[in-house]
Amino acid sequence: MSLKACIYDLDGVITDTAKYHYQSWKWVAEQMEYHLTEKQNQKLKGVGRKESLEKIMKWSGTRISEADKQMYLLKKNAMYLESIDTMTPSEVFDGFKEFNDLAKAAGLKVAIGSSSRNAIRIIDKLDLVLEFHAIVDGGMTENSKPEPDIFLLAADKLQCDPSECLVIEDSQAGLTAAKKAGMKSILFGDDKGLKGAHLQIDDWLKADLEKFKTLF
Ligand code: BG6
Ligand code: MG
Repeated sequence: MSLKACIYDLDGVITDTAKYHYQSWKWVAEQMEYHLTEKQNQKLKGVGRKESLEKIMKWSGTRISEADKQMYLLKKNAMYLESIDTMTPSEVFDGFKEFNDLAKAAGLKVAIGSSSRNAIRIIDKLDLVLEFHAIVDGGMTENSKPEPDIFLLAADKLQCDPSECLVIEDSQAGLTAAKKAGMKSILFGDDKGLKGAHLQIDDWLKADLEKFKTLF
């Protein structure tokens, strides 16, 4: 077996959108008279929009109608879109493009596998649309991470077997999804509390394709 494809998570792996999610979730929490901490925001990484709202409601002990839930989801996303619409290609993490070019030059397939329904909009803002063989976002599968659907669809689009794919993730939901998909994974970042990754890198400048190949 050999490495045939890299499937990248987007938020927190290619660019830092967590700070924009935090601003808008903090506003939602404030409407519930609750202060959402940065530590709690970390726990929302990789978690879908609706599921994130449900977690905030649980933490704050808030019960609201289905209509209000929908209203908060719409408002949160509107605020988030205002932030991401200011993003520019300078917000791509250092070294990502170089690694991705190297992977493609080595004959690997590359895809995005993101829980975000805004993934394509962000990738467009970062001017990366043409850099991938496939893009799978949170609107394309029934189940979001930690279920494996997003990564399995990406592998399918790349015409690769899951066992030949390497997932690069920064969240527990994503690492769990990779495991359920039967894929090897790399933890991006230094969150020591996360489990299940086969390797860890602090940033893209530390990414070593030859080392990644030894996992297969
Ligand atoms: C994930 C983010 O990639 O996408 C989560 O890490 C976010 O924080 C989720 O909630 C859904 O994103 P969106 O853009 O569809 O609200
Ligand atoms: Mg992420």
